[in-house]
Amino acid sequence: MEQYWLSLLCWGTFLISSVVMDRSGVDGMHPLYNPIRLPQLCKFCDVEASNCKGTGTCESNCSITSICADADEICVAIWRKSDNNNTIETLCHKPSEPLYGIMVENYNNTKCEMKKRMSNRGPFHICSCNAEECNDMLMFTLPFGPDPTNNQVVLVILVSLLPLLVLTVLVIASFYWYRMYRRRKLNEWETKKPSKRKGPKGPLDCSDACAIMMDDDRSDSSSTHANNLNHNTEPLPIELDLQVGKGRFAEVFKAKLRQSPSEQFETVAVKIFPYEEYASWKNEKDIFSDIDLKHENILHFLTAEERKVEKQYWLITAYHPRGNLQEYLTRHLISWEDLRLLGGSLAQGVAHLHSDHTPCGRPKVPIVHRDLKSSNILVKNDLTCCLCDFGLGLRLDNSLSVDDLANSGQVGTARYMAPEVLESRINLENIESFKQTDVYSMALVLWEITSRCNAIGEVKDYEPPFGSKVREHPCVESMKDNVLRDRGRPEIPNSWMKHQGVAAVCSTINECWDHDPEARLTAQCVAERFSEMDDDLDKLSTCSSSEEKIPEDCSVSVSDEK
Ligand code: ADE
Repeated sequence: MEQYWLSLLCWGTFLISSVVMDRSGVDGMHPLYNPIRLPQLCKFCDVEASNCKGTGTCESNCSITSICADADEICVAIWRKSDNNNTIETLCHKPSEPLYGIMVENYNNTKCEMKKRMSNRGPFHICSCNAEECNDMLMFTLPFGPDPTNNQVVLVILVSLLPLLVLTVLVIASFYWYRMYRRRKLNEWETKKPSKRKGPKGPLDCSDACAIMMDDDRSDSSSTHANNLNHNTEPLPIELDLQVGKGRFAEVFKAKLRQSPSEQFETVAVKIFPYEEYASWKNEKDIFSDIDLKHENILHFLTAEERKVEKQYWLITAYHPRGNLQEYLTRHLISWEDLRLLGGSLAQGVAHLHSDHTPCGRPKVPIVHRDLKSSNILVKNDLTCCLCDFGLGLRLDNSLSVDDLANSGQVGTARYMAPEVLESRINLENIESFKQTDVYSMALVLWEITSRCNAIGEVKDYEPPFGSKVREHPCVESMKDNVLRDRGRPEIPNSWMKHQGVAAVCSTINECWDHDPEARLTAQCVAERFSEMDDDLDKLSTCSSSEEKIPEDCSVSVSDEK
């Protein structure tokens, strides 16, 4: 009897402690710490409808808490998704036994974390834990729980994105490398500034690289733009000398650029624009500011200045004492060798201007001059040409629309205008059309040079193209009559063809002033032809096409004068 009362007391104490007391730590113990291994208290509602969406945290909404039958049973919750309603099943379960054909894993938790598993009744989400009523709060980590198939999808996405990622990194890296490269080149060039050169100097001909390049926040900030506006508060110490030229918008002076603190100076040319011609100064400055324009057959640009006191804009460039080509041809007869030098260098300058890459192969914005004529070409001391006066130049960058091109209008000097410019019928869809108009004008200049070459026989006084046919400053209408209506071109007398070299030049000229712009040679091709004309052509001979040297790409034909 005494034993009976003792066992009753034990069971009573157990029941009170397990049902009434909070078992998750009233005694300060970890909820999983169950030294006597008392049966667990779990939610146990079997299957109930639920509005749990399988994301975040859901409550089981089960109102029944059961003492599991065995001490080794754990709490389990199963969430099933179906089209019409979702369900939650709560139960006690022996982890050593399968549940719906699977073994329950990771149950030594206080929290019930859902995982997607495949049971013998299809996929479901199951969580298991071993703490009081721990299967009441169901935790979904990813949408629908962490899903191994989802993980695979994520992995596949990551792997397929990898090449794109690598490519992006490569593109960014090469962009930075390119910028660094350009900056280094720019620095190298800047170190050649006259002010930084060392050693004794006399008066210099500034036809070499002697750029003075300073910050210009008014010009485009593109990396190909040299910082070319003299921002010093002090204007450069320049002393104007004689006027050497006068154009439509500006006057050109020979000038001395003082090399302080010494008495030495460099001779430079200063092109002075009145304030009203800001647009023309800006256009020429912006064209010159492209460092990729730098070329031995393009006038060397030093800097640009706004002269506030004088209300003027200045462009400071190299000075060439021989002056412009028209003046030079007026005063001088030239040899075949001079013709080759002048003609070849002219073509090289135009080819570089038009080119979409630098001699090193870097991309470059093609530029068209649109006012090529012998008075816009300077003769350097070595009797090569350099192009100047870019007031009407146009950068053919990709941002130009057909409208931009159409609005750029009929520009240039009527005497040198190509037929399609005279009748305002340039093909605006193709930027090559603008280059073709330059090639036409260049052909007229080549004709002017040839007309003063002693290799053609009797040489007349200098005359501009169409000289005897039109007045000094012909208008567009009178040029239309000559060039369009009559299909006229400057005369190439038969006597010029006696010299094989001159004949080859004339053939090239003919191909450059073709009425059909597309049939014209490119400036690059003309340059190649000149470089292929070797000294062997420096002899008088009757022209014979069978004896001709026919280069592969830019082949010469001497019998196609129109
Ligand atoms: N006429 C126009 N520009 C000139 C220059 N840079 N040098 C000499 N004469 C010029």
